[in-house]
Amino acid sequence: MEEFRYKEDSLHCEEVAASDLAQAYGTPAYIYSKNSIVDHTRHFERAFGAIGHLSCYAVKANTNSAILGLLAHEGIGADAGSIGELHLALGAGFPAEKVTYSGVGKRDDEIEYALRRDILALNVESEGEIDVIRGIAGRMGLVARILLRVNFDIDAGTHPYITTGSRQNKFGVESGRAIDILTRAQTFPEIDVLGIHSHIGSQITSSGAFVDAARAALELAGRARTAGVNVRQVNLGGGFGVQYRNYLRHTLLPVEPDDQEEAGLTTVSMLRELLRVFGQAGCMLVVQPGRSLLAHAGILLTKVLYRKESGGKTFVVVDAGMNDLLRPSLYHSYHQIVPIAPHRAEHEVVDVVGPLCESGDFLAQDRILPRVDRGDILAVMCTGAYGYALASNYNARPRPPEVLVDGRSHTCIRKRETLEDL
Ligand code: LLP
Repeated sequence: MEEFRYKEDSLHCEEVAASDLAQAYGTPAYIYSKNSIVDHTRHFERAFGAIGHLSCYAVKANTNSAILGLLAHEGIGADAGSIGELHLALGAGFPAEKVTYSGVGKRDDEIEYALRRDILALNVESEGEIDVIRGIAGRMGLVARILLRVNFDIDAGTHPYITTGSRQNKFGVESGRAIDILTRAQTFPEIDVLGIHSHIGSQITSSGAFVDAARAALELAGRARTAGVNVRQVNLGGGFGVQYRNYLRHTLLPVEPDDQEEAGLTTVSMLRELLRVFGQAGCMLVVQPGRSLLAHAGILLTKVLYRKESGGKTFVVVDAGMNDLLRPSLYHSYHQIVPIAPHRAEHEVVDVVGPLCESGDFLAQDRILPRVDRGDILAVMCTGAYGYALASNYNARPRPPEVLVDGRSHTCIRKRETLEDL
C-alpha cells in the first residue's frame, strides 16, 4: 500500500528511482503511485464489510483526470464541489448515479448542470438553496434529490481553516432547525429529500468527533422519520486524517516526535469506530473521503538551489514554492522532507523555503534535516491530496507536471506548464 520507500539508499516510487523521475521530468514535479491509489481505495472499501454504503471520492483533493479515471474504475462514486469538478468527474467515468454535489454557494447554472446530468444528489446547505433548486427543477420538469447538510456543532479538533462542523462555521443549517427545513422541503413536489448530510472537517485524527457526528446524524434521522420524512441516506462526509510525520524511515533520517493524535492512526481504525455506531441504521451510509485515498500516494520532488545563513538561521532554498504546495504556508501543515539519496549523517536545523516573494513561502520551518547541498533532490512526502489541487501560477510560475508511476513504467498525466501557458 505504501509505495514510496528506500531501496539501497535511493527513494523509489514503486519500481522507479526518484532520481530517474527527476531526470526525466525535471523539478519541481508531482509523482504519484498508481498502486498506492488503488490499494488505499480497496483497503478503505473493504473496511465497510457488509454495510451498505457508497464512497464518493472528494474530487477537490486531486482533480487530475487520469487519477479520477483510476478511482472511477474502482467502482466508487465522486463528490464534486463545483461545476468544474462535476464536469471532470463525469468526464472521467464516474456514473452520474454515484455522483454528489456539495458546496455552500452553488450558482444557478451549477445547479442546473447537476440536475441536467441527473446526479445522485445535491447536498444542500440552506433554505434559500432549497428554494432555488426547487425553482430550477420546476422549470426543467424534474425532481431534485437532496440531502440536507446539518451543522451539529461538533469540534473536529483540526486546523481552524478546515474545521467545518462548529456552529460558527458557514456550513450546513443549524441542527435545531433541521426538522422544520426537512419537513417543509418534502412538501415540495420538485424536491425528493433523500436524507441528512454532515461533514465536520478535514485531517481529523480522533474517532470521537466522527462518532459524535454519526450519533447526531442518526438521532436526527430517527426524528425526521417520525416527522414523516423518508430518510434513505445518511452522508457523513470525509475528513479521515492520515499520518504525515515519520512516514519514511531511514537510518540517516531524523525521527520526529510523533504527533500525539497522529500516532498509530489509521483511516480504517477511525472508520471502524464510526461503522460500529452506524451498524443497523437501516439506511445507506455515504462517505466522502479525499485525503485518506490520495495523500500517501503522491510526493513532490524539488531541487536544492542554494543554501544560505542569515539572521542566525540556515535557509535551504528549493525550486518548489507555495504556488506548487500551499499547505505549509496556509495551514502550517507538516510534510516530511527527505533527500531522495540520503548520504550524510550530519543533521542540521533549517528552513526549507521556496523562490517566491513572500516570507510565508516555506515548505518547512526549523526542521531537522540531514545536510543537503545545491543540486540535491528532496522529496516532500504525502502530497497526493491537496497538493497540485491547491497549486497556482502566483509569481507567474508555470505549474509543475504530474507523473503517474505503475510498476516500472511512468506516464506524464499533466504536462509542466510553459511560459506560453501563462
Ligand atoms: N466532503 C466535503 C463536503 C468536503 O468539503 C471535503 C473537504 C471532503 C468531503 C473531503 O475531506 P477529506 O477526506 O479530504 O479530509 N485544503 C485542505 C483540506 C480542505 C478540505 C475541504 N473539504 C488541506 O490541504 O488540508
